[in-house]
Amino acid sequence: MTVDNESELHKIKKLHPDAKVVIRIRCDAEIAKFQLGLKYGCDPIYEAPNLLHLARMLGLDVIGISFHVGSGCQDPPAYHRAIRHARSLFDLAMDIGFKPHLLDIGGGYPGNKGTSIDKIADVVNEALDEYFNTDAVHVIAEPGRFYVASAFTLATNIHSKRSVRSNEASPNVITHNMYYINDGVYGSFNCVVCEDQVVTPIPLKKGCGKLIPSTIWGPTCDCLDQVVENVLLHDMDLGDWIIFENMGAYTLAITTQFNGFPVSKVHVIANKKIWRLLKNALPLTEEHFVIGNTPANLRLGLDTGGDDTNVWHHPSIELTATEILDGDNSPPSSYIYDYVEVDALS
Ligand SMILES: Cc1ncc(COP(=O)(O)O)c(C=O)c1O
Repeated sequence: MTVDNESELHKIKKLHPDAKVVIRIRCDAEIAKFQLGLKYGCDPIYEAPNLLHLARMLGLDVIGISFHVGSGCQDPPAYHRAIRHARSLFDLAMDIGFKPHLLDIGGGYPGNKGTSIDKIADVVNEALDEYFNTDAVHVIAEPGRFYVASAFTLATNIHSKRSVRSNEASPNVITHNMYYINDGVYGSFNCVVCEDQVVTPIPLKKGCGKLIPSTIWGPTCDCLDQVVENVLLHDMDLGDWIIFENMGAYTLAITTQFNGFPVSKVHVIANKKIWRLLKNALPLTEEHFVIGNTPANLRLGLDTGGDDTNVWHHPSIELTATEILDGDNSPPSSYIYDYVEVDALS
């Protein structure tokens, strides 16, 4: 059990006195996407020694030290500092009668396509050689983002579009396109608000014509629900797909159903080798998979979502912006009705 305060030690003493206790220290990276140290981790110099003494007085078994330098760490030396603090605390723990043998170096490793863990690994390995050059200490980590960030690609669909004409000189010229897609910051793009993540829209269809300043919005009523602000994109239509890579970490797991929009559906796209491995390891059946990772298969994966009762937009309805804009003042109600109907949430 990991603790960073006295009351937790007293609680463990009362409820689970035989627990193996790990003290979590705080050692923040100077730059990180989010600082977990704000919430958890005691000061390694001023607080951790007191906790070790208290644990000893309570007769608890402290077996090691843990830390998390911050998620999305961009300050590799932070691992060195944390491991150095852990060494001092191991020494103190041994002095007062514990036999610490676990060092938990937490998470914080990068996971996006094109990133590498090598820099952090070098720092960690160097620090371990310097401070824990022994087989007697078991080193573990808690990688999160590292495993999952690049594993998920989010495919979003444009359900509404507003072309802004604000050029006084030529009022018919489109100066900005606003696209409204079926996922937003209350859904998978939570990271845009919480981590200031900048996500890159990749239109599935290759565009043509001139690039137009564009903003992409999520589906909810809230103006905070902005996914991408002011990027240059070729003109797109209702029903077109926009792809976002590296959407596996801190996305689906913290999504909400604010305004009644359902959580994004996951399609597993795998080559045969990976599929054989996964289908035996996870509660998945053949239907969960689209085999292969070509754009054609990706499209197949998207289309299979069409008849699912949980999917609120039916990709087979082909609407274009002109069909709506060129109509008379009241666009065909059947289109609009089909377009926004949402299945009752279970
Ligand atoms: C205790 C703990 N360990 C590991 C992780 C994963 O961190 P990361 O995604 O930065 O690797 C988190 C993330 O919140 C965490 O709270």
